[in-house]
Amino acid sequence: MRLLVTGGAGFIGANFVHSAVRAHPEYAVTVLDALTYAGSRESLAPVEDQIRLVQGDVTDAGLVSRLVADSDAVVHFAAETHVDNALADPEPFLRTNVIGTFTVLEAVRRHGVRLHHVSTDEVYGELALDNPARFTESTPYNPSSPYSATKAAADMLVRAWVRSYGVRATISNCSNNYGPYQHVEKFIPRQITNVLTGRRPKLYGSGANIRDWIHVDDHNDAVWRILESGQPGRTYLIGADGERDNLTVLRTLLKMMGHDPDDFDRVPDRAGHDLRYAIDPSSLYDELGWAPKHTDFDEGLRATIEWYRNNESWWGPLKDAVEARYEQRGQ
Ligand SMILES: NC(=O)c1ccc[n+]([C@@H]2O[C@H](COP(=O)([O-])OP(=O)(O)OC[C@H]3O[C@@H](n4cnc5c(N)ncnc54)[C@H](O)[C@@H]3O)[C@@H](O)[C@H]2O)c1
Repeated sequence: MRLLVTGGAGFIGANFVHSAVRAHPEYAVTVLDALTYAGSRESLAPVEDQIRLVQGDVTDAGLVSRLVADSDAVVHFAAETHVDNALADPEPFLRTNVIGTFTVLEAVRRHGVRLHHVSTDEVYGELALDNPARFTESTPYNPSSPYSATKAAADMLVRAWVRSYGVRATISNCSNNYGPYQHVEKFIPRQITNVLTGRRPKLYGSGANIRDWIHVDDHNDAVWRILESGQPGRTYLIGADGERDNLTVLRTLLKMMGHDPDDFDRVPDRAGHDLRYAIDPSSLYDELGWAPKHTDFDEGLRATIEWYRNNESWWGPLKDAVEARYEQRGQ
């Protein structure tokens, strides 16, 4: 099996590549990554001798076509992913998320290669806090931010390429991931590294927003299952019944790190901040027999805190610049 992983030097992609090399040492894994601010060679250092890393842009049609021609399957993670950045400057999101996905689709169409496209539950928009409904595969798309709008556009392109050209592609829409190698701009790593660097954690607005947390290894395990057994043309929702509001996550984390749970600052809320995301993963469970393994969120969070404690050399050089950017935005 020759596997091409786009965005494999980012948070989820790097964890995916680690697990690919562990589970299938006989696979030839190539990573295509532009190494933007969000990607890093260091995230792939533990497996650098077992993979090929090509630094390049997913919108480079010639490069993508050559790499896809040499692959049996493509897992497409590459994207601009941070909502706050999308609000400040949406253009790179249009380019990478929409044109990048188009470029991958054209290459897999030309060379007849299997594709799995990785997407987010944010394409469905927000759920009400007081309504127990959850997202399913038939929930209408209703994206709120430039990030989720470009991911929704990419998903639609994949669906159209399946229908119009018979491309063998699956899509997954997953809830919020946490775990090692996540950039310190994101909610959980930001709070952990704020505490580790003597800064006060920052909470958007009231903290009532609910996210459906899943450990990154569970997300990637589900992606494997879909790649191996999913039905081309299908969309699968990946979630692990992990709904928690941001305030609860922050207070839990502070207690685990030996701090007063109220030892944080409130900052102005993100514009258009979605209230609640929640995934109904039952078709993935029922049809593909998948189930998450990291079902104890507190245990996963504790391990993630430990990882950041032990890997300051990975995140330390990024921290000051990220906080300076947040400060400029008053957050
Ligand atoms: N993080 C989450 O909670 C979450 C949840 C559901 C789905 N997703 C999806 O999973 C995928 C990966 O997310 P992540 O959190 O690992 O993101 P990330 O921002 O950590 O990593 C993105 C990677 O893509 C690379 N990249 C960006 N632009 C590129 C370009 N033009 N060409 C080539 N490479 C480029 C970056 O260098 C980086 O390595 C994304 O498609 C995202 O939408 C993320």
